[in-house]
Amino acid sequence: MAELVIVDRRGKEHRVAGRVGVSVMETLRELDYGVPAICGGMCSCATCHVWVDEAWIGRLPPRQGDEIEILRELSSFKPTSRLSCQVPFTESLSGLRVEIAPDE
Ligand code: FES
Repeated sequence: MAELVIVDRRGKEHRVAGRVGVSVMETLRELDYGVPAICGGMCSCATCHVWVDEAWIGRLPPRQGDEIEILRELSSFKPTSRLSCQVPFTESLSGLRVEIAPDE
């Protein structure tokens, strides 16, 4: 089982089975404490914003143009920010730790 470690907006940590072969967002949006992902993964709403643990950020594929532009408009943007719909989840990412960013 590939596991995702998720820190919710209250700071509580959860360990869940991550859906492999789809984006991290697909797992997060099924959780009560997850993300709404309003655009459904089209990289246009930013409601799937997460902060990736620094230990993991370098193991993810780099951000692409649209993702960078959208993230930079957020007041909660950090160097570790990602749109979770743009991060494919794989077995090799088991243990990936992300924190749900504030709603904007
Ligand atoms: S779900 Fe809308 S940008 Fe990721």
